[in-house]
Amino acid sequence: MALINENYLKLPGSYLFAEIARRVSTFKAENPSADIIRLGIGDVTQPLAPASIKAMHDAVDEMANQATFRGYGPEQGYDFLIEKIIETNYKSLGVEMDEVFVSDGSKSDVGNIQEIFGVNNTVAITDPVYPVYLDTNVMAGRTGTLQNNGTFEQVVYLPCNAENSFTPALPTNKVDMIYLCCPNNPTGTTLSKKELKKWVDYAKSNDSIILFDAAYAAYITEADVPRSIYEIEGSRDVAIEFRSFSKTAGFTGTRCAYTVVPKTVMGKDSEGKEHSLNQLWNRRHTTKFNGTPYIVQRGAAAIYTPEGQAQIKATVDYYMTNAKIIREGLITAGLQAFGGVNAPYIWLKTPEGIDSWGFFDKLLKEVHIVGTPGAGFGPSGEGYFRLTAFGNRENTEKAIERIKTKLIL
Ligand code: MLT
Repeated sequence: MALINENYLKLPGSYLFAEIARRVSTFKAENPSADIIRLGIGDVTQPLAPASIKAMHDAVDEMANQATFRGYGPEQGYDFLIEKIIETNYKSLGVEMDEVFVSDGSKSDVGNIQEIFGVNNTVAITDPVYPVYLDTNVMAGRTGTLQNNGTFEQVVYLPCNAENSFTPALPTNKVDMIYLCCPNNPTGTTLSKKELKKWVDYAKSNDSIILFDAAYAAYITEADVPRSIYEIEGSRDVAIEFRSFSKTAGFTGTRCAYTVVPKTVMGKDSEGKEHSLNQLWNRRHTTKFNGTPYIVQRGAAAIYTPEGQAQIKATVDYYMTNAKIIREGLITAGLQAFGGVNAPYIWLKTPEGIDSWGFFDKLLKEVHIVGTPGAGFGPSGEGYFRLTAFGNRENTEKAIERIKTKLIL
């Protein structure tokens, strides 16, 4: 028999959202008439922008025609999309064409990026955290085992909670790889430019790399919140950024994202010689990936037309109105709520004496609403709970009404 990668055995039995889906199916089987409202996984509900649909229809027609048919495209993505990405999101931030890598999603990118790093690097994650950052490092063998307190040995956890305004403190020891997500999943909170500058300065002084997940950048409403880490001076030497069309333009099922790896971000080999991470990522990407479908890239590029921009903004505004309804509704119900101003996630404090999985069960059983228990995102998520603003308006309003009138608090 072939030996397995035993690092997988260190992981809890199932991925967080798979576990939630399992619990909800069990409840649904036992209560078939329950009208369940799902505000758990951050999946969008509104259709793609008409501009994207039109562009994809046109691209399908091109594929049907000998003269315009396309086979393999560039693994890194078509120039027509990369040019638009740079022009719209990185104008004057110095990002070059060969620093953008189009992919099938940020989940894949943030999961795969760790492959270009040494297994002995120390990893720092904020706690709570999007589980992919941690789980993929566990799989790679960059951690020890899971301890009783819910943390993995050898990982540096940076607690984020109401007490520190969800702003992680810099590590006291040297770390090599730092995952930051802003606007944050799951807390829905953000870091100011001033805070982010501290991380860039830390990374520069400690030769660390920042893996910056900006998948929710389109939801920022406040001026001081950076849309990109490259707005911070010095970041081009230390940061890799991830962006996605999933939440920006409803591509969770269509799949398209990109990673920016500046040519100035370096790592070193065991003899201390420096290497460009851009080249390593390019090597990995071209070896393991054959490119995002042409049709999908056409759909993605269409969001950068004036009508595409207006259409995706209308959808983002729709979700942010949901966020406001949830946030204000929870506060009216007497709960403490965070986030939801620059992000489509609302992070609430569970009532005294109820832990986050307990609140999950209570919400599901008493009012048939699915959310995500904070503890699923890490030990500092205990005592918190996440609701998403990605539902439709009717369900969002119904869910809040149920919480206000039917939930026994
Ligand atoms: C979530 O609910 O946290 C999202 O589904 C994350 C993701 O985009 O994978």
